[in-house]
Amino acid sequence: MSTTADTGSAPLLSVQNLTVQYGGSALGIAGISLELRQGDLVALVGPNGGGKTSTLRAIAGFPRRDPGSARCEQLELDGQSITRLGTRERVKRGLIIVPERDKVFAELTVREQLKLAWHTSRSGTLDQRLDEVLQVLPEIKDHMNRRGGYLSGGQRQMVALGSALCSHPRVLLIDEVTLGLAPSLVNRMADILRRLGGQEMALLIAEQSLGLALDIADRVLVLDAGRVVASGTPDELRSRPDIADAYLGRRQAGVDLDETDESGGGAGPGAGTDPAVPDAAKELT
Ligand SMILES: Nc1ncnc2c1ncn2[C@@H]1O[C@H](COP(=O)(O)OP(=O)(O)OP(=O)(O)O)[C@@H](O)[C@H]1O
Ligand SMILES: [Mg+2]
Repeated sequence: MSTTADTGSAPLLSVQNLTVQYGGSALGIAGISLELRQGDLVALVGPNGGGKTSTLRAIAGFPRRDPGSARCEQLELDGQSITRLGTRERVKRGLIIVPERDKVFAELTVREQLKLAWHTSRSGTLDQRLDEVLQVLPEIKDHMNRRGGYLSGGQRQMVALGSALCSHPRVLLIDEVTLGLAPSLVNRMADILRRLGGQEMALLIAEQSLGLALDIADRVLVLDAGRVVASGTPDELRSRPDIADAYLGRRQAGVDLDETDESGGGAGPGAGTDPAVPDAAKELT
């Protein structure tokens, strides 16, 4: 089953046979392979527990003390193996994740969050990065001095994406950035992702809405119970009746893959506890 595009250019990210386990026993994902080239927008979709987050987190690198551990035949960024690199080293090389939960720091202002993100990569000047981010996400501008804890759910998703862009990603991993958003904001986010997909980076997104993924992605991987059960271009997947029956527009196990979750659960605003502000952030004020 091909999960790659054959465009001739060298892959920015190459993942071969990635397996994730939790606590040594529970399986997160089993043997997933994919490649991303510059300009690619690839979407991971599938039901709850399918393995989308596990895939993204394994590629970003599980932080120390995380119960997840990954094994991979090959994990290369820009042609170089990153298997042995920790999360910070991966970030420095441009592998940036917008996590599923705890997307913003409640105690930091938006400006501080963006500055912190820039700090991790120190790519270009802060002003350069801020200019770029505000071109893509002008809605952040009015909130630069507000603390993350006072932002709405939609504003938090925007700030999380803006922070990731401030790190100047080569490969951007985005976990559920539309979860909990009103339909108009989902459309706006879709436009933003499409625009980013055309830039000098590659995007791998986890998305609950299969409809949205088919609208914006170049290729889609359907993950179910930790395995890729289908992959291809949106047109290829739309023409597969088995996939349409199982995953397109069907409610399964209480999950609606076609509509936005308005519940605000999961990655949405207020989900989980606020992450600890890292030491580097304390230097920014
Ligand atoms: N910290 C953990 N400890 C044990 N098992 C875990 C952990 N995180 C995830 N899993 C398991 O790994 C599998 C894949 O979960 P994952 O979060 O990657 O799915 P997902 O596709 O992102 O789901 P969702 O749509 O709900 O976000 C599930 O069976 C889940 O229970
Ligand atoms: Mg998830």
